[in-house]
Amino acid sequence: MIQAGIVGATGFTGMVLTELLWAHPEVRLGPLTSSSYVDQQVSDVFPHVRVPGTYVEYSPEAVADCEFVFVCYPHAASHPVVGELIDRGHRVIDLSADFRLADEDAYQHWYGFQHGRADLVPKAVYGLPELHRERIAAADLVANPGCYPTATILAALPLVRDLGIATVIVDAKSGVSGAGRAPSATTHFSRVHDDFRAYGEVGHRHTSEMLQELGRVAGTPVGVSFTPHLLPLDRGILATVYCLPAVGAELLSQDALMHLYEGAYVDEPFVEVVAAAPALSEVQCTNYCRISPRVDEAAGLYKVVSVIDNLLKGASGQAVQNLNIMAGFPETLGLGAQG
Ligand SMILES: NC(=O)c1ccc[n+]([C@@H]2O[C@H](COP(=O)([O-])OP(=O)(O)OC[C@H]3O[C@@H](n4cnc5c(N)ncnc54)[C@H](OP(=O)(O)O)[C@@H]3O)[C@@H](O)[C@H]2O)c1
Repeated sequence: MIQAGIVGATGFTGMVLTELLWAHPEVRLGPLTSSSYVDQQVSDVFPHVRVPGTYVEYSPEAVADCEFVFVCYPHAASHPVVGELIDRGHRVIDLSADFRLADEDAYQHWYGFQHGRADLVPKAVYGLPELHRERIAAADLVANPGCYPTATILAALPLVRDLGIATVIVDAKSGVSGAGRAPSATTHFSRVHDDFRAYGEVGHRHTSEMLQELGRVAGTPVGVSFTPHLLPLDRGILATVYCLPAVGAELLSQDALMHLYEGAYVDEPFVEVVAAAPALSEVQCTNYCRISPRVDEAAGLYKVVSVIDNLLKGASGQAVQNLNIMAGFPETLGLGAQG
């Protein structure tokens, strides 16, 4: 049994983590911190979350008894707290972007802030188990991946690793919970309901993770063009990922492509390869990523559709998967279907 606390527990990812850790058979749920809801009960803030607990102000002392701490702050706000916790000997899973990029200068370029704990950047492990399981197991600091990058990297990975794909085009759609709990002019109901739009169509910051991880897999830079869209629903990401082979390269047959994907993910507990393009409803409220790869002969490319729940495989579920790996628990523990 280990004790795990949540810093920034009143956001959407913190809310889902609270439920997951409370139900986890090997975890004692530790302090839940908040600055806006101190002394309020979990059920005061989230009436559907039936977890006993009272929010407390964050301080290093408040989480001192926790071997593991999840940090669910926005980017730029996270790294000072993560640094403080690492300095005090905790093992930390950071759900923000603050340690996802291996190049300390990239934070200024993609996120517009100067990293205050650049000393920890080389120690952080990118927390995509399907790519870095062994390093995650030994890590003290895991940078939980972004939701769009999770759906995209898992979709493109077998092709990029085995076939020398040079360019990946990502057309992805997310439910509104991906933007966090605080409403904004672009995410409130009247703006989103019954409408559909692209945003951040050039230079979206999640592109940086896709470039980094797909480039690592390929062993050479891979071009990524990423267009996110806002779907008028709560949870889920659907990414259609176009993988362009080198000019003149012969396309695999559909059977060979399925064989490639099934082989790549045969041992992965949370990746399912399917023949027909999956719907969001097939993965909502679960930690699964479901992927369907197709050969598009007319266009001379591969087209891969991938779906996840942004708050589970795209955030808190993947964070618990990483905790299980770090703590030496079975990787699927506490990650049954979530309602
Ligand atoms: N939503 C997703 O689908 C998703 C997926 C993957 C990764 N992420 C990442 O996970 C992190 C948390 O996401 P979320 O969706 O849970 O966000 P959120 O709903 O906006 O919640 C963030 C929480 O952090 C606290 N907070 C807000 N601003 C803060 C600040 N400047 N300094 C300190 N604390 C602050 C707030 O709680 P109090 O006011 O109570 O302190 C808030 O509830 C973000 O970095 C996000 O990018 C989110």
